[in-house]
Amino acid sequence: MTLLALETSCDETSAAVVRHGIVLANVVSSQIKLHQEYGGVVPELAAREHLKNLLPVARAALSEAGVSASSLEAVAATQGPGLAIALLVGFKAAQAVAFALNKPFLGINHHEAHLYSPWIQRATDTPPSPLGGERAGVRGGHPPATRDENRLAADFSQFQPNVSLIVSGGHTLLVSVESELNHRVLGGTIDDAAGECFDKTGKLMGLAYPAGPIIDRLAAQGNPAACDFPRPLLRDANDDFSFSGLKTSVRYFIRDHPAWLEDPQKIRDLCASVQAAIVEVLVKKTIRAAQREGVRCVTASGGVTCNRRLRQELECACKAHGFTLRLADPGLCTDNAAMIGILAERKLLAKVPLPPLDEEVKPGWALA
Ligand code: KG4
Ligand code: ZN
Repeated sequence: MTLLALETSCDETSAAVVRHGIVLANVVSSQIKLHQEYGGVVPELAAREHLKNLLPVARAALSEAGVSASSLEAVAATQGPGLAIALLVGFKAAQAVAFALNKPFLGINHHEAHLYSPWIQRATDTPPSPLGGERAGVRGGHPPATRDENRLAADFSQFQPNVSLIVSGGHTLLVSVESELNHRVLGGTIDDAAGECFDKTGKLMGLAYPAGPIIDRLAAQGNPAACDFPRPLLRDANDDFSFSGLKTSVRYFIRDHPAWLEDPQKIRDLCASVQAAIVEVLVKKTIRAAQREGVRCVTASGGVTCNRRLRQELECACKAHGFTLRLADPGLCTDNAAMIGILAERKLLAKVPLPPLDEEVKPGWALA
């Protein structure tokens, strides 16, 4: 099946073409620079930018994939959660394409797409499987990706029940994935998300938006033990997260030690200490949930999964506790339409019921 997917839930305009689990093209136009001067995403500006960029991005994806619009067999788009006026742009455009081509359309939950993104790997990283794309629970699998292409391809033949950490700018979730397309949310953030904590503490340090990648870079030369920030909810016997108290501690620390922001090395130490606190909570709670759920596999996805310390610490912890770890490809951690397209194709192959074509966006659509 050749499918076009659109993603416009926040500040990335993205279009992807997927076919038989292979990502033929995944074009992402980021608006980060536009929102930087406001210190965060401005919904109205995001929507206007999506309107401006959607057609060029979709055209580029079709051209890179070598696919004409008339040969598309299905269309998908992010339906939620996200900014309502941003979601509307991609979702309504995708519905219109499906209407014009008279092809099936599927609205996708953005977090569910993150959830399965760790099963999309570079073809060269994916060992060939005797089962190909076929696996229990989903009919109509697809052949494995051609190994000599460095293309992203989904490989659900390796699928096993897992506990999945989704860490993005707006959400921190722990999810138990019992089988493909069958999951249960274990816990989430009760206030700030992990990405938000990176971004807001970075702002307190005077770093540009989004501060996550900058903290990652500066922390590499900092001392993670320089400041002893709290590890919120680490000892609580639940799978919830709370990062606003950590942000407040950083605020008070900076208020009490203003000279730290004048010293580049002290800023690096501050970054390393904040990062260490966030990562320790994420890793320990993920491992604990995986042990309790009795799974053998841990996965992680979402923008914060780009973080090098998080990747390293998850690798160490999973090794120590005997878990298989699947991290989303760095190119698919932040928002992209490839993960939307791959999940939509799996759902269409699994013959999920098609919703009516005049469905609306769901800005607050929580993963169940
Ligand atoms: O998944 P995503 O692209 O957007 C949402 O759906 O929210 O995640 C964006 C978030 C931002 O908070 C950004 O600071 C964070 O991911 N992020 C990072 C890194 N790269 C992106 N946080 C820490 N370290 C990074 N390397
Ligand atoms: Zn996201």
